Amino acid sequence: MRLIIFGPPGAGKGTQAQLLANKFGIPQIATGDILREAVKEGTDLGKMAKTYMDRGQLVPDEVVIGIVEERLRRPDCAKGFILDGFPRTVKQAEALENMLKKLGVKLDAVVNLEVDEEEVVKRITLRRTCRNCGAVYHLVFNPPKKEDVCDRCGGPLYQREDDREETVRNRLKVYREQTEPVLKFYEARGLLRNINGNLSIDQVFQEVLKALGVQ
Ligand code: AP5
Ligand code: MG
Ligand code: ZN
Repeated sequence: MRLIIFGPPGAGKGTQAQLLANKFGIPQIATGDILREAVKEGTDLGKMAKTYMDRGQLVPDEVVIGIVEERLRRPDCAKGFILDGFPRTVKQAEALENMLKKLGVKLDAVVNLEVDEEEVVKRITLRRTCRNCGAVYHLVFNPPKKEDVCDRCGGPLYQREDDREETVRNRLKVYREQTEPVLKFYEARGLLRNINGNLSIDQVFQEVLKALGVQ
């Protein structure tokens, strides 16, 4: 299965990508997680990316395209992958198309999680993320079993720097202006599957499986 999970900030891309990755036994490739890892490690990439991420702006296309190209060549992607947060511009979508052509594989679907803006803000402001493994929680909708501790790896949970309300508003603006046009690109290729993302985590997951023709 080769999928893109698409949608605005806080739509539930990471949450659904994780569930799908577990179900199909294929990797979740989240450009946001990869960039946050680089920020944590303090690499040159991380230092550069941070200046964009803290403002809610997109990291330059060339940088993100390079990261994904390298990641898709690794052997664990041979049976499939789930892209979460990439592509985010038409330029990235075109680059991905070229990469997949070179690898001789095709996308199965682009799952678009449609969520209202007020819902997105509610979700993001109470989100907690694992510093170790990137797993996501929500203090009300999906709380960890033990406060501030990741169920999956025992790592510490924290609030992402770009989850302040002001930055979230800017991320939503950037989404509307630069990312939403990508939907047309995939609609034209017959790959787009629109999903009502306002439902509960489990209900959305069931809708996604249905759209993929899987039970
Ligand atoms: P990225 O990390 O991709 O952030 P994002 O797109 O803003 O999306 P989020 O991770 O905030 O939300 P999500 O859709 O994954 O939702 P989640 O499952 O966590 O990118 C961050 C930054 O990195 C960008 O701003 C940019 O600077 C840079 N970047 C990354 N990729 C890039 C690219 N390709 N090009 C250029 N720059 C790039 O859910 C949110 C919350 O809601 C959680 O608390 C969760 O528990 C809860 N929740 C989820 N589903 C439900 C539900 N159905 N009901 C109730 N609660 C739910
Ligand atoms: Mg995410
Ligand atoms: Zn963890």
